[in-house]
Amino acid sequence: MSSHPETPRSGLGAALESKQQQQRSFSDYRRFIQNHYDGLPGALTRFTGLVTGHEALAGRLIRESGFDVRGCKSILDAGCGNGRYSWFLLRHADADAKLTAFDLSQQMLKRAHARLKSERVSHVAADLTKLPYADASFDAVVCGWVLEHLPDPRPGLHELARVLRPGGKLLLLCTEDTLTGAMCSRMWHCRTYNRANLKDVCKECGLAFERDLWFSRLHSWLRLGGIIIELRRA
Ligand SMILES: C[S@@+](CC[C@H](N)C(=O)[O-])C[C@H]1O[C@@H](n2cnc3c(N)ncnc32)[C@H](O)[C@@H]1O
Repeated sequence: MSSHPETPRSGLGAALESKQQQQRSFSDYRRFIQNHYDGLPGALTRFTGLVTGHEALAGRLIRESGFDVRGCKSILDAGCGNGRYSWFLLRHADADAKLTAFDLSQQMLKRAHARLKSERVSHVAADLTKLPYADASFDAVVCGWVLEHLPDPRPGLHELARVLRPGGKLLLLCTEDTLTGAMCSRMWHCRTYNRANLKDVCKECGLAFERDLWFSRLHSWLRLGGIIIELRRA
């Protein structure tokens, strides 16, 4: 599959955007990303998250007026990284809810485990395009800033839709094809998405759009912070 099939772009954003996905085969790119997150850039995500505010901003999404996980007994943090979203999910989910978290990088899983120190979470090494879970296993899924590591979003979205129960909810966060998004893409060696195109592809994969979410009113006014959408398994 060619890279970025649904977003032919031009201009400064396109010039700035990382070309790693176009320059490597998918298996080579995946190994490169795994090494990237296993290494220093992955170790620094807690620090960079503090500097950019993302550590705190995650808490503005996982709450009653945002992505509400009350009543969800089985929750998945897809591409959990250092456990940033898992931490808020544990805080807001019911006390008897179980959280499953996976990541491609073993080191990120170790970092998440060390951070959370909770028996309610199970950590597993897995690839978003081939999930080791049965159909309809989860009531809610959070997938934060992972889909941009796939040249084609469909295999990942199909897997997320498959493991969600019908009616289950998904919080999807992706790097957007804006200038700031292109700079993030360059830093984290990922692609960007066009908001409208991504919603169409989600629908195609059985994930119905519910609403756009923003970190804050300021982010919404300035259209900053990336694509953050709540979807429902059709
Ligand atoms: C930018 S971090 C986001 C981490 C976390 N979701 C957050 O928002 O803080 C991206 C994470 O996705 C993981 N990742 C990248 N490609 C993946 C894939 N194909 N399957 C599973 N995880 C992947 C990386 O190892 C990394 O931990």
